[in-house]
Amino acid sequence: MSTAQPSTARSVWSSRIGFILASAGSAVGLGAIWKFPYMAGTNGGSVFMLPYIFFTLTIGLALLIGEMAMGRRARGGAATAFPLLGGKRWGWLGLVSVATGYFVLAFYSVVGGWCVYYMAQAFIGNGAVTDPSTLKDAFGTFASSGTLPIICHAAFLTATAAVVMCGVEKGIERVSKVLMPLLFVLMLILIVRGLSLPGASEGLTFLFQWNPEAFTGEALLNAMGFAFFSLSVGSGSQMNYGSYLGRDVDIPKSTTWIVFLAIMSSILGGLMIMPAVFAFGLSPDAGPGLTFVTMPAVFGKLPLGDLFAVAFYVCLFVAALTSAISILEMSVQYLVDVWRLTRRQSVWATSTTLGILGILCALSFGPLADVTIFGKGFFDLFDYATSNIGMPLGCLGLAIVGGMVAWKDVKEELETGSRIGKTGLTFLRLIMVVLSPIVIVLVTFKAIGLF
Ligand code: ALA
Repeated sequence: MSTAQPSTARSVWSSRIGFILASAGSAVGLGAIWKFPYMAGTNGGSVFMLPYIFFTLTIGLALLIGEMAMGRRARGGAATAFPLLGGKRWGWLGLVSVATGYFVLAFYSVVGGWCVYYMAQAFIGNGAVTDPSTLKDAFGTFASSGTLPIICHAAFLTATAAVVMCGVEKGIERVSKVLMPLLFVLMLILIVRGLSLPGASEGLTFLFQWNPEAFTGEALLNAMGFAFFSLSVGSGSQMNYGSYLGRDVDIPKSTTWIVFLAIMSSILGGLMIMPAVFAFGLSPDAGPGLTFVTMPAVFGKLPLGDLFAVAFYVCLFVAALTSAISILEMSVQYLVDVWRLTRRQSVWATSTTLGILGILCALSFGPLADVTIFGKGFFDLFDYATSNIGMPLGCLGLAIVGGMVAWKDVKEELETGSRIGKTGLTFLRLIMVVLSPIVIVLVTFKAIGLF
């Protein structure tokens, strides 16, 4: 393996808005619409949601700004930027980030596959369901069936690989620009419908009224892990996107936009699912299938519900795809930069290995349900380990390298094309080097029961 060097021929985003939409596309995906509702549902609602908002707006935002700046400075992804800016001592942290992102895609593409399945169902007229009591079993039967979820996972991964093969500008920007705004509009319509159902207000209470009895260290760690997951911070992909950035882009301002869009989409995701869950008498702690168990019933209550179902799943598919693209792109760029493979070879290597890991994850809902490591099936293990161990570690790396060791570089990068000012920089650095490590370490200790 050769030493990491910044790649000389690097693509550059064709416009600032293209970068914001692609990075927001990386952030906004299944996290907001699939993961947020089910995590809130299994972690006590408000005691998950409110810490999530806090973590996102403080350490998440600051570390993401640092991540983008490191990427642009080094003109490379995490495996290049960490050793280049932080020296040999901290270089390994870049590999942690790259590995974390890569493993995210293993289970992410399984959920992407669920989305493909529900999209196909919607196209053949099964998107809207009038009897919510059948939905849980329908999801369980599909997810545990073995072959079908694997085919859907393969379809999702193939679509992701095809876009990445085409290159950054052609593939990613074009797709992001059109369908992201449509997804937001659709979510707003579905929220209005969900909130007007009798009993929906209980969902709002669940999400927004602080419930101290439900508060646990584990819920707090899950909220922090989800904040990182939802921004894709500390897992290499945003640093990689940062490395494609032109020097005229105002990193703090653009990143604030990305964080705003990500947090809005999670809140909208919660508002779309949770009131409906309560209105239909479903169980908020149904687990990873919650969104797929709830939405068909919402469509069943809408005029032209089948049409809404098609539009919704197409947008969800694209949202999932843009996130998956950013992760695969990062893994591919790593092999190109560090292992000197061609782009084509890298796409093949990453997508085939991810295909195999994803099969294990898909089967953990069915034939491999009894195979557990540390008490978790493959799907849960990949999910937990990436959000609650890999990303917090990657974020600590951002705090150490971005906020301390290479602060001079990061600071210069942040001042380029931006009016952040001295106070803004001091505040940002304080969050990066003081608040972030303290919060990450304390939350982790609390979750493992050290106090
Ligand atoms: N940040 C991506 C998402 O939330 C992984 O879907």
